[in-house]
Amino acid sequence: MIEVSNLQKYFGYLPAVDGVSFSVEPGEILGFLGPNGAGKSTTMKMITGFITPTMGKISVCGCDIETDKLSAQRKMGYLPEGTPAYEEMTPRGFLGFIAEIRGYSKSERASRIGSVTETMGLESVLDQRIETLSKGFKRRVGLAQAIIHDPKVLVLDEPTDGLDPNQKYQVREMIRGLSRDKIVIISTHILEEVTAVCTRAVILASGKIVSDCTPRELEEKSRYHQAVTLIFKSPEDIPAVVTKIQNLELVKSVEENGLELLVVPEYKDGSLLPHISSLVREEGWQLAGLFQEKGRLDEVFRSITEEGSHAGH
Ligand SMILES: Nc1ncnc2c1ncn2[C@@H]1O[C@H](COP(=O)(O)OP(=O)(O)OP(=O)(O)O)[C@@H](O)[C@H]1O
Ligand SMILES: [Mg+2]
Repeated sequence: MIEVSNLQKYFGYLPAVDGVSFSVEPGEILGFLGPNGAGKSTTMKMITGFITPTMGKISVCGCDIETDKLSAQRKMGYLPEGTPAYEEMTPRGFLGFIAEIRGYSKSERASRIGSVTETMGLESVLDQRIETLSKGFKRRVGLAQAIIHDPKVLVLDEPTDGLDPNQKYQVREMIRGLSRDKIVIISTHILEEVTAVCTRAVILASGKIVSDCTPRELEEKSRYHQAVTLIFKSPEDIPAVVTKIQNLELVKSVEENGLELLVVPEYKDGSLLPHISSLVREEGWQLAGLFQEKGRLDEVFRSITEEGSHAGH
């Protein structure tokens, strides 16, 4: 497992990471969220031993990152932000080099390269210089080097940044498909990615943890959790419809957006949808859609990180 306690990193007077503590168990896929400059990459660099903390302790699978850095790094795969690589090498040469410094024999190297080439779809670019690759393919090479030694712990800084939708899907499948005894930490700005792959979401703001829960719990914090959306087929008398819905006791507010009405409940107890459904039947409204919202992560993210940054001043 990974244990981080009271981690701090100062750059001059700036506390980029300011007293962060958490632990991660095997089987967890932890998503780091937070605004630009929140301290996500800095935390990841400290966990992987690339920069030294100002204060605090990190242990990875029982190895202290300060006193036993190499043993810890052997167990980890790391995709740094911006995908640094040896630009003049080809992916084949680069992956071979990484496999070699990871200690694999020549024959093992070939099979390792073969397997990550397939996972990351690198066949067509294996012998092209890395500097001439498109951004997405560079990212794929970076991911391939991170997983080449099948590490117990994977730390991926914005793994799907710059990838096309097919590759995004592939990378998420790859992460989801990892065996249950691994620990994965990813950072991302794509909120749906957290619901899609993470078992846990940690939100950082101004170097501090401001939220730590499951993606579902995060959705439940949304004011739109269990809100009901009605999509009308044709422009009925929308203002009259809105008034009727607003008259329901359970309704907090109604938001209009063209033919769509979003009804926000007063209580999040699941009672709004049946009431709206019966109203729709009674009134004979012709709908193209009627469904209950899970909650909107962008709205939760905004409220949590804005509160967090105010607390810091
Ligand atoms: N080497 C450095 N020297 C000085 N300041 C730094 C250094 N590295 C990071 N910082 C600062 O530390 C803070 C946290 O940066 P970090 O890269 O960890 O943020 P982040 O959460 O990864 O943001 P992003 O979403 O933009 O990737 C920022 O204010 C950044 O400018
Ligand atoms: Mg970053």
